[in-house]
Amino acid sequence: MPLLELRHVYKAYGDPEDPLHALRDISFAIERGELVCMVGPSGGGKSTLLRLVAGLLHPTSGEILLDGKPVREPSPRVGIVFQNVNLMPWRTVRDNIALPLELAGEPRGRRYAIAQQLMELVALTGFEHSYPHQLSGGMQQRAAIARTLAQNPEILLLDEPFGALDAITRERLNQELLRIRRIRNQTIFMVTHAINEAVFLADRVLVLSQRPGSIKCEIPITLPHPRTDETLVDPNYLALMRRVRMAIDSPYQER
Ligand SMILES: Nc1ncnc2c1ncn2[C@@H]1O[C@H](COP(=O)(O)OP(=O)(O)OP(=O)(O)O)[C@@H](O)[C@H]1O
Ligand SMILES: [Mg+2]
Repeated sequence: MPLLELRHVYKAYGDPEDPLHALRDISFAIERGELVCMVGPSGGGKSTLLRLVAGLLHPTSGEILLDGKPVREPSPRVGIVFQNVNLMPWRTVRDNIALPLELAGEPRGRRYAIAQQLMELVALTGFEHSYPHQLSGGMQQRAAIARTLAQNPEILLLDEPFGALDAITRERLNQELLRIRRIRNQTIFMVTHAINEAVFLADRVLVLSQRPGSIKCEIPITLPHPRTDETLVDPNYLALMRRVRMAIDSPYQER
């Protein structure tokens, strides 16, 4: 049984008399341990889709199953990192990361021990007592990811996590994300605008259409692991990027 399964999911916003159709007939599944990226045009419904999977929104019709059971409300089993970093400015980095543990009623010693491990994982050791405004954009993103990992989610949803960062920082954080994935065997579903990022990271790329978003096609990324700087000059990497780009531009439904 796949970890996550969407069956004929539709989502409309607003007045049922005059709805805004955000998503149309979305069906796909993600297996345990997979890293799947979704690309598509702005306004196509990508963030909407992640919010549905996180249980923050409900589909207008269709089903979302986690481990075979319907997702009805937010749960620690599904961790989401939003498009805009939302660290709490009045809390230190460590206290931000430990927040889910605090909400879960973990005692302070254990909270800080776990937060410390996660800070090491995302390379933020030494910034325990800093406040979010004292960190760079990339460091804030890593803190937000660490905070979500603190809830030990079975699936990690990332909404354009590195969108606002420069290309070099982004490449480094992509490498770090792959390392985190390897160490924790973490299942990841990530939304991105960047075709190169999607192809570099993913086992599979889903291409979403313009609004109302539907899945245009699914492209398996057959590049070897681990992905390294070598990957970036692999002719297959370039060919796959071209395929994804063509699928985004194509006016036809391939699936
Ligand atoms: N809470 C809401 N109420 C009404 N309409 C909404 C709401 N959230 C999103 N929408 C609409 O749904 C559509 C899809 O929005 P969504 O944010 O999911 O797109 P997106 O693919 O994430 O875009 P981007 O790449 O720019 O982040 C848009 O037309 C948007 O205006
Ligand atoms: Mg979005």
